[in-house]
Formats: sequence, C-alpha cells, structure tokens
Amino acid sequence: MGKKFFCLLILVIFIAYSTHTPLPDGIEEPWKIILLNTLLRTTAYLFLLAEMLGLVHFAEFTIFLSSFLNVSPVSDDNVTVKDTTFNNVPVRVYVPKRKPESLRRGVFYIHGGGWCFASNAMINYDRLSRMTADRLDAIVIATNYRSAPKFHFPVQFEDTYTALKWFLHPQILESYGIDPERVGVSGDSAGGNLAAAVCQQLLEDPDIKIKLKTQSLIYPALQTLDLDLPSYRENPYYPFLSKLFMVRFWSEYFTTDRSLEKAMFSNQHVPVESSHLFKFVNWSSLLPERFKKGHVYSSPRQGSPELAKKYPGFLDVRAAPLLADDSKLRGLPQTYVITCQYDVLRDDGLMYVTRLGNAGVQVILDHIEDGFHGIISLLQLNSGYKLANQYISWLHENL
Ligand SMILES: *[C@@H]1O[C@H](CO)[C@@H](O)[C@H](O)[C@H]1NC(C)=O
Ligand SMILES: *[C@@H]1O[C@H](CO)[C@@H](O)[C@H](O)[C@H]1NC(C)=O
Repeated sequence: MGKKFFCLLILVIFIAYSTHTPLPDGIEEPWKIILLNTLLRTTAYLFLLAEMLGLVHFAEFTIFLSSFLNVSPVSDDNVTVKDTTFNNVPVRVYVPKRKPESLRRGVFYIHGGGWCFASNAMINYDRLSRMTADRLDAIVIATNYRSAPKFHFPVQFEDTYTALKWFLHPQILESYGIDPERVGVSGDSAGGNLAAAVCQQLLEDPDIKIKLKTQSLIYPALQTLDLDLPSYRENPYYPFLSKLFMVRFWSEYFTTDRSLEKAMFSNQHVPVESSHLFKFVNWSSLLPERFKKGHVYSSPRQGSPELAKKYPGFLDVRAAPLLADDSKLRGLPQTYVITCQYDVLRDDGLMYVTRLGNAGVQVILDHIEDGFHGIISLLQLNSGYKLANQYISWLHENL
C-alpha cells in the first residue's frame, strides 16, 4: 500500500509540475497554449527522466516525436510535393500546380528544432511550406540536415550549406523555372541560426555568383557567448522554449559532454582570451532602450580555456552569426527578423537588427508583443497562423 501511494504521489507531482505553465497576462488562447506546452513538456521531461536513468539519450525524443508527427510528401489541389536530394542532402520540394506566368520566386527554408530534433517532413513545417508555395506562387525547398546527438557542429551547418549551394546552381534554378534575382533564405529558431550563418558564408564563396534577394530570420538563435541577456532573465520558463532546454540545445550542438552545458548555464564558458568578442553581443550597447528595462549589464564570467579548446565551435561565427564584423555584415541581403516578447532568444534577434542596421543593411523588425517562441510552426494557434501570414506577406512584397 505504502509503495503504491508513494508512486501515485510521484506521478501527481510530475503531472502538476509538467502542466504548470506560467503565462503573462492578456494572452490569446491561453488554454490551447497550456495544452500544447504540457504535451511537449511532459514528453520532454519523460525523456529527461529516462536519460537520468541511463535508458536513452534525451534527443531520442526526436525520433519518438518524428515517428508520428512526420508526414509523407503528398501533393494537394494546388501544390506538388516531392522528396529528393540536393547533393546527397534530403530536401522536400513544393511546386505550385498552376501554370507559371513568368519565372517564379524561390524560397529555401530551414526548419528549427534545436539542431537536434524535428524535420522538414514534420506536419507543421510541411503545412507552412505548402502555404508559402501556394500563396507566393513560389518554389519552396525545405531542407533537412543531420542532427545531434549523433552529429555536432559543423555538420548541421555544412549539410544546409551543401543543399543551398546545389540549389543556387544556375542550371538547377533554371530547371525549376526560378528567377535567380528573386531567391530568399528563411528559417526559424535553430533554422534561423543556420539561415543567418549560410547567408554570411555565401558572401565569401567564390563559386557563388547569385546574390540572394532576402533573408528571413524567425526568432533566430544567433550567439552563444552571453546566455544571461535580459530576454533569458525575463523568460526562462515560458512556452515553448525554456532556458533549460535552450542551453541544452546550444551545448548539444557542439558536444554531448555535459560539462559545456553546465558552464553555459552559469554563463561561464567563454575564456578570457576570447573576451574581445563580447563587444559583438554587448546588449548594453545593442539593445533598444525599452528592452533593457532596469537590467544591469555585467560581462559574462570567465570560463576555462579547456572547454573552448575542446569545443571551439561555440566561438565560431558559423554557429554564432552575431560574431561577424561589420565589414562582412555589409554584404547581406535585405533582412526580415521576427522576434517574440516572451522568448529567451528575443534579444539575439534584436541585437542582430541593430548590428545589421549599423552596417547599412536594409532590415525590418517585426516584434510580436504577445508572441512566444515556436508559434510559426504551431498553425493550430491563432497567433501562429497570423504570424505565418505576416511572414508570407513580407515575402510577397519584398522577394
Ligand atoms: C487551393 O487554392 C484555392 C484557391 O486559392 C483555395 O481556395 C484552396 O483552399 C486551396 N487548397 C488547398 C488544399 O490549399
Ligand atoms: C558593453 O557596453 C557598455 C556600454 O555601452 C560598456 O560600458 C561596456 O564596457 C561594454 N562591455 C564590453 C565587454 O564590451
């Protein structure tokens, strides 16, 4: 009896803990958000628990989720959908069925998921790509990339870049009937990170003759150096991304060694030799006043040189696009950045907007006052559907 009661007690505490979702006031559809967040969190915590017991790696959660959230490439009334590969990288291609009137626009989309889970075939990403192809009468290429924990940086970056470079071959664009002057790269979250990184890389690639028209960065992760920005301080527990998971994703991008995660969580991972890089992510000078709101700036604490020696990726500009200097940023295409108020990654996006603006890049910020991280792929939410429309409208006018 005592044992059963004890188990029941643990279960009740677990359910109470994973359903507890703190929300700011005045949020639209709170119950739907709580329900979705609870589903996600309960599954994630179960996997964390199983990991603690040594049964699985946390990221196998991915494979589990994917197994019933992925959809096969099925064409509908308006869009032909097909899986193929671009230089061995799997991609899903969306081609509008209506007859083209002229050359079409091309959108290269990179999905989010912390460099570790999700895929271009996930039902919500599939819906977003269909919507984009249909509304814009554009060819959408949704790429995949190999993910953590099996693969670490720079594999995710390189897979994405390989697929993008293939796509940008003049003959490939021509074969899809795409206007080479109207190609854009977009991505959300970890995909926004990869989008920003590949757009920078293209500028230095002598093989690439095509100039992108746009980059669209939807609540992107853009730097690893300071994980104690005002947005991390204000939003550590909001849906659909807590600080705990974001730090885990960042560290897992570079290694499965949990000592990096521990150092990152206490913001003590950057060695003194690299402290000159802090100027690129200094929120005290890069955030607009209203987001500083009484926070006091202090430079992150000094980390051990060992970590940076073992995992130099976290100081690499291909992982942290905010580390690029102005002369490089200057060459970037017109940029659209979406940030959400209740998101740990909010300030990454805001700082990039400031830096791009300072470098003379044409940049538009769309800040969602009641937004949470992850909503663009949650088309079940009004706010998600609205945001997807906003993003597509921006592309409609600017790509
Ligand atoms: C196809 O396009 C028509 C006309 O724009 C629209 O009414 C319909 O909902 C679309 N079908 C799908 C499956 O998106
Ligand atoms: C950050 O910016 C503030 C104010 O602009 C400045 O006082 C401080 O020295 C800077 N710190 C670093 C590490 O760049």
